[in-house]
Amino acid sequence: MKYKGYLVEEKGDTFSGTIQEVEMPPIADGNVIIKVNYSSLNYKDALASSGAKGVVSSYPFIPGIDVAGEILESTSTNFSEGDLVIATGYKLGMSVFGGFGELVQIPSNWVVPLPDNMSLLQSMSYGTAGLTAGACVKKILDSSKIIDMPVVVSGATGGVGSVAVNLLNKLGYEVHAITGKPTEEKLLNMGASKIIDRTEFLGTPAKPLDRAIFSAGVDTVGGETLSKMLSMIDAHGKKNVLGMMPHPERMIDKYLSGEDGSLFFENLIGNLK
Ligand SMILES: NC(=O)c1ccc[n+]([C@@H]2O[C@H](COP(=O)([O-])OP(=O)(O)OC[C@H]3O[C@@H](n4cnc5c(N)ncnc54)[C@H](OP(=O)(O)O)[C@@H]3O)[C@@H](O)[C@H]2O)c1
Repeated sequence: MKYKGYLVEEKGDTFSGTIQEVEMPPIADGNVIIKVNYSSLNYKDALASSGAKGVVSSYPFIPGIDVAGEILESTSTNFSEGDLVIATGYKLGMSVFGGFGELVQIPSNWVVPLPDNMSLLQSMSYGTAGLTAGACVKKILDSSKIIDMPVVVSGATGGVGSVAVNLLNKLGYEVHAITGKPTEEKLLNMGASKIIDRTEFLGTPAKPLDRAIFSAGVDTVGGETLSKMLSMIDAHGKKNVLGMMPHPERMIDKYLSGEDGSLFFENLIGNLK
């Protein structure tokens, strides 16, 4: 079976993508083939499309780390032809051809049914960034300790930050949004109740015993922003840290936090190294 996809090829030192016809291998045991309706655009897709080291296992390759679509063929009893589904993460768009093609073939255990109250387009409008924000917000929601203070979100206009602001507001939290953009109105409309200018926030250095004024935080920026944010979160609060963390050694004692940071950060999506 042939399908069209955005195939990225390596030519010498350059990587370039074109729409090409690709052959879909016969379905393997345990797999499903999905007819792709939508895939979100993630920074990792840009890395995969530009040949960044360590993202894609080999080229030529079709990027796209998530998909929403319809089951075309299934070897799994969990899914039948015509089922509407979502898949995100695992090796999709990294070592398995991803969502920037008309079809994907992936293990059925990477796939979840599309929720009844969501369209395929809506699911990929949130995309993997939205799912990541959801994972952070869930950690805050699951916290058994209720602390009556606002939640702080950094990188608030970004993919993860903006969805986190919106979800937290919908769940009834008071959200303070740190941003470097002059987009006050947009963030207020998204659900922030207070906008904190990034430069002002970083204007005074972090002190180990800053006054705790936040019950929890979602940091999508790292570095000094994270450092400062941590000093202002209640000792029993939830700290969600995503992506790059320059100089983690400045903030974390590995003996106190565990090698992977898991004892300190309830939700570390990324890598301390
Ligand atoms: N997207 C995902 O699926 C995903 C999954 C797991 C982990 N992550 C990690 O989460 C982090 C955020 O991802 P994202 O997709 O939300 O990225 P993004 O859409 O690029 O948003 C990042 C935000 O950070 C702020 N920012 C940019 N440059 C900055 C600077 N120099 N100093 C301080 N703030 C700066 C900006 O927001 P303001 O202008 O409003 O401050 C920007 O919108 C990344 O480290 C990523 O690796 C992302």
